[in-house]
Amino acid sequence: MIVSFLNQKGGVGKSTLSVNVAAYLAKKPRKVLLIDADTQGTVAAWAALREERKFQVVSMARDNMARDAMAMAVDYQDVIIDGPPGAGKITRAAIIASDVVLVPIELQAVAQGGVCGFAKTGEYGLGPRCPRNGRDERLPDSEK
Ligand SMILES: Nc1ncnc2c1ncn2[C@@H]1O[C@H](COP(=O)(O)OP(=O)(O)OP(=O)(O)O)[C@@H](O)[C@H]1O
Ligand SMILES: [Mg+2]
Repeated sequence: MIVSFLNQKGGVGKSTLSVNVAAYLAKKPRKVLLIDADTQGTVAAWAALREERKFQVVSMARDNMARDAMAMAVDYQDVIIDGPPGAGKITRAAIIASDVVLVPIELQAVAQGGVCGFAKTGEYGLGPRCPRNGRDERLPDSEK
């Protein structure tokens, strides 16, 4: 299975979750590939600092990474993709490659609205249940 951590908002924990979920799965043990799809190279930099790790890491921060990610995935039980901040072409490619997309957020109303906006981006075809204005109607008026 290919699982990506994506959000157009930066600094929400995508890379932290990617590394830790990959490490958790590898410890089971499962054969895990962690794909760094962010030009910032956070995961690749982290991997370079580790003397030992129980899973493979590759850098694949390019617009057409979906095909290569899916081709590599056949050799692994689990593939984790750490995406870039943003909803651009790399994010789109990661969505195409993924069986599951996880969108970490900060617990703030504005961040939640951002997720719905991201999910409703027609190009991605995600999130039909997000409210029309990208805001959760359960929130108090002051938070909408
Ligand atoms: N669950 C958490 N609780 C508190 N701090 C966290 C948590 N997860 C990540 N952080 C911290 O938040 C910061 C941003 O995390 P991280 O780099 O994983 O985010 P990111 O979404 O990958 O950022 P970017 O969009 O820049 O790639 C880091 O300092 C990290 O240590
Ligand atoms: Mg990151």
